[in-house]
Amino acid sequence: MSASVLVGTQWGDEGKGKITDLISGDFDVVCRYGGGANAGHTVVANGHKLALHQIPSGIVHEDALSVIGNGCIVDPTVILEEIDTLKAQGLSCEGLRISGNAHIVMPYHRDLDGAHEKNLGKNLIGTTKRGIGPCYMDKMNRTGLRMQDMLDDDTFREKLAAALAYQNPILEKVYGLPTYTVEQICEEFLPYAERLRPYIIESSKLLNEELAAGKNILFEGAQATMLDIDHGTYPFVTSSNPTAGGALTGSGVGPTRIDRVVGVAKAYTTRVGEGPFPTELDDEVGEALRAKGGEFGVTTGRPRRTGWFDAVVMRYATRINGLTDICLTKLDVLSGYDTIPVCVAYEVDGVRTEEMPLDQAGFEAAVPVYEELPGWSEDISQCRSFEELPQAAQDYIMRLEELSRCRIQSIGVGPGREATIVRYPLM
Ligand code: IMP
Repeated sequence: MSASVLVGTQWGDEGKGKITDLISGDFDVVCRYGGGANAGHTVVANGHKLALHQIPSGIVHEDALSVIGNGCIVDPTVILEEIDTLKAQGLSCEGLRISGNAHIVMPYHRDLDGAHEKNLGKNLIGTTKRGIGPCYMDKMNRTGLRMQDMLDDDTFREKLAAALAYQNPILEKVYGLPTYTVEQICEEFLPYAERLRPYIIESSKLLNEELAAGKNILFEGAQATMLDIDHGTYPFVTSSNPTAGGALTGSGVGPTRIDRVVGVAKAYTTRVGEGPFPTELDDEVGEALRAKGGEFGVTTGRPRRTGWFDAVVMRYATRINGLTDICLTKLDVLSGYDTIPVCVAYEVDGVRTEEMPLDQAGFEAAVPVYEELPGWSEDISQCRSFEELPQAAQDYIMRLEELSRCRIQSIGVGPGREATIVRYPLM
């Protein structure tokens, strides 16, 4: 029996999907524990590239269970579309399970997300407009609807009526948006309920039974540490806990069951949406890095902001998540630089700090202190062992490992699953 958590250590898009794909064959269950259709991972099913937002990437391993935990929110339209797409590729989706306690993303959540962003004007968060914030607001406000409410038409109607009594005045009076009737939503959602019914279960029971039976579980994080509602760059964050602690509350598995916490980090940094980003390269160097790394969002197609590796953020991620290992991705993108700057500390109001500043203003004012590491010119995409890497690339890894205070387990040198240098096995 083993349970591992996989988390993003930066602002998302570190390549978690590739790592999950690489290691999920070792797991009997892959469970997502937070977020909704704001995530985006590309999986390869029967030779076809598919972008999934809601279903865990473990779905491509048909003998594994893919669980959407109670900490997630589910958009029925998105998940049903993904089920159809996967089935069209010959995947049965028989291993899919959805927690009855996961909240439902309703059409008004999307409306409110868009309207709130519009109202924020230049202070907007840059959300994915998938209704994430408003749905989690309803959860915390105890006015949300859960997947289990879909199992009974009368319960669904009753709870929806109560929710609309609260939401309609907000839609109308605060944002000047059209309101919804119970019938209107039921007409759309009750057929969804019929299709989703077979997948809805008590997932905490299932996960703990699987562990008791000696099975291995991978908790697949979406988003990332710096987007965490508690530990990220608030308010420029998502509305859930993508950090390792979220895997526990978002699944109903206790902390004593977790063996490893694996952090995925890009060899440089990217961010989508607004918010502070100390090592950002807002120039042609950043532009070239974006083009070379193919840095465009899977969910929204937005160009990602790019910058150098930030070891302050990485050390913070090691601490917040209790990382046992790091999977470093996209090292090949850094080939061809004479030197590669790595941010080792910040200067805030002229004072050097090695740690994350206490307050938001400090992080916004942080000026990166760079160490210039020697670069390499070789194409490293064919390297399959650490020793095959050019000396400068090996030194880059060793220095990142030292600065991160956590060992680097694997190094990505290309997009394919085989383009990975594994330094030691994870399991
Ligand atoms: P929301 O999660 O749609 O509310 O968006 C809040 C912030 O999180 C925005 O800056 C988004 O760009 C960012 N975000 C949400 N999901 C992801 C993701 O999967 N990858 C990267 N950024 C994300």
